[in-house]
Amino acid sequence: MLVTVLFIAQFLLLVTVVGYAVWLMFLLLPAFTQGAPYVATTHSRVAVMVRLAKLAPGELAYDLGSGDGRLLVAAAKVGAHSQGYEVNLPLVLATYLAAYRAGVGKLVTVRWGSFWRQNISQADVVFVYGLSTIMPKLAQKFRQELAPGTRIISAAFELPGFTAEASEGGVYRYVVH
Ligand SMILES: C[S@@+](CC[C@H](N)C(=O)[O-])C[C@H]1O[C@@H](n2cnc3c(N)ncnc32)[C@H](O)[C@@H]1O
Repeated sequence: MLVTVLFIAQFLLLVTVVGYAVWLMFLLLPAFTQGAPYVATTHSRVAVMVRLAKLAPGELAYDLGSGDGRLLVAAAKVGAHSQGYEVNLPLVLATYLAAYRAGVGKLVTVRWGSFWRQNISQADVVFVYGLSTIMPKLAQKFRQELAPGTRIISAAFELPGFTAEASEGGVYRYVVH
């Protein structure tokens, strides 16, 4: 009896430790990928971001660090093709589930990997919720890759060297010239 109890206690301890280590790993992942940790944009802010993006059906929107895919789904709901990049695998899987449940599975794609390694030149709109420390490097990537007329929608952080043409509730809208 005692042996069984000890075995179960050890097993539960092991599961807790492994679970905690995995959770910590995913939490710390962005520190190694030069991106923001996972903090989901509120649904009210998602609505502002999509409105400021002025997406038209058939346009292509990227979310750099797409989290649980809420922006991708919201963009797809207005008819845009939305493509995310995300380093956290459980969030990639959550995105596909959310897109399927919202009925926009055909318009949403998400790649498991770093957005720094992706060429984003095809974008009509780029969403980003980054960190102040990565914004200068992002601005450089945008200047190198984005075509004139591309809209950049940034949550919380301004983009150095760009002038916001609109802002609302901590969301900034830029247009590449
Ligand atoms: C602040 S959250 C924003 C999530 C989502 N865009 C939203 O608005 O709800 C930043 C996300 O970027 C992801 N991330 C961090 N560095 C990344 C990188 N180099 N490439 C792709 N995703 C990254 C994180 O895992 C996290 O989910």
